[in-house]
Amino acid sequence: MKANIVLLPGDGVGPEVVSSTRQVLDAVAKRHGHELAYSSHPIGGIAIDETGNPLPDSTLDAAKKADAILLGAVGGPKWDDPNAKTRPEKGLLAIRQGLGLYANLRPVRSFKELVASSPLKPERIEGVDLLVLRELTGGLYFGKQFREQTERGVKAVDTLEYVDFEIRRVVRLACSLARARKKKVTSVDKANVLESSRLWRQIATEVSKDFNDVAIEHQLVDSCAMRLVTAPGSFDVLVTENMFGDILSDEAAVLTGSLGMLPSASLGEGKLGLYEPIHGSAPDIAGKGICNPIGTILSGAMLLRHSLGLEAEAKSIELAVERALAAGARTKDLGGANPLSTQAMTDAVLAQLEK
Ligand code: IPM
Ligand code: MG
Repeated sequence: MKANIVLLPGDGVGPEVVSSTRQVLDAVAKRHGHELAYSSHPIGGIAIDETGNPLPDSTLDAAKKADAILLGAVGGPKWDDPNAKTRPEKGLLAIRQGLGLYANLRPVRSFKELVASSPLKPERIEGVDLLVLRELTGGLYFGKQFREQTERGVKAVDTLEYVDFEIRRVVRLACSLARARKKKVTSVDKANVLESSRLWRQIATEVSKDFNDVAIEHQLVDSCAMRLVTAPGSFDVLVTENMFGDILSDEAAVLTGSLGMLPSASLGEGKLGLYEPIHGSAPDIAGKGICNPIGTILSGAMLLRHSLGLEAEAKSIELAVERALAAGARTKDLGGANPLSTQAMTDAVLAQLEK
């Protein structure tokens, strides 16, 4: 098949991990006779530097026409001025919204080889295989925000709003994804306090009636945070509001030992998706050639699976990563006596693909 992939390397380590992933995608495409065409566009801080806009129109237009989008990371200390007109992160939020990517899939699997790097005891982490499904275009991130001077002082307001259809579509996706997994959905809310969560719970209950083969449970976000470290193996699919999902997915991600390992996919109604690692731009190690490319490489596998429908090709990347780890390949974040560079880790994955 032929596909048109938009690369958004972004800031910090973004360009390094995107370059690694392109090498892996190219190798897989070559083996399976696919033709991947790429075009690269600015987003985030680099786009602010070049155009004043963290998501230039030309980038959004190219993304809309693509079959899939691979993103590195956005942000860095250079653009952290609290008085700045705009921020790199705005570019990321705007592209998610501009493409209608309401569902963010963050799979968390423990890698046998890395159990020792987890902050949890081996018996707790072994066999963990869960999926955080975060609502991505609503909730606290996209509600009304403003400041105003009041008699009591300066007031800042953020609002958490959901319309029923926004909840329904993401919970529906959670249930259908669970069908192909362990058939269990944990819907996470704060229904003892928030009205939006009471609507969330009501809609989730309604949706679950269409999925008799899937077990649904409701859990409050605070106790869910606790259960993620005490019994991570008890989860299958977690579905939740945008900000709760942001927080819980970082917590879940680090269970496996390194944030550098984990991929994500952001999907909407069609096949178009945006794929990016969970980690950020890591400015402290950017440009040194030592960051872990695996989170992005595995995002490339998700890209093949969800946007291009190439399941076998996606699996071949996941298998190559597992084998490279089993053969002892470790970047600095994964510990080990002789850590590999980003390129050497990429080469280790490429070598396993050939087998
Ligand atoms: C994430 C990140 C972003 C978010 C930031 C960079 C805006 O933390 O993708 O989880 O909060 O969504
Ligand atoms: Mg986050």
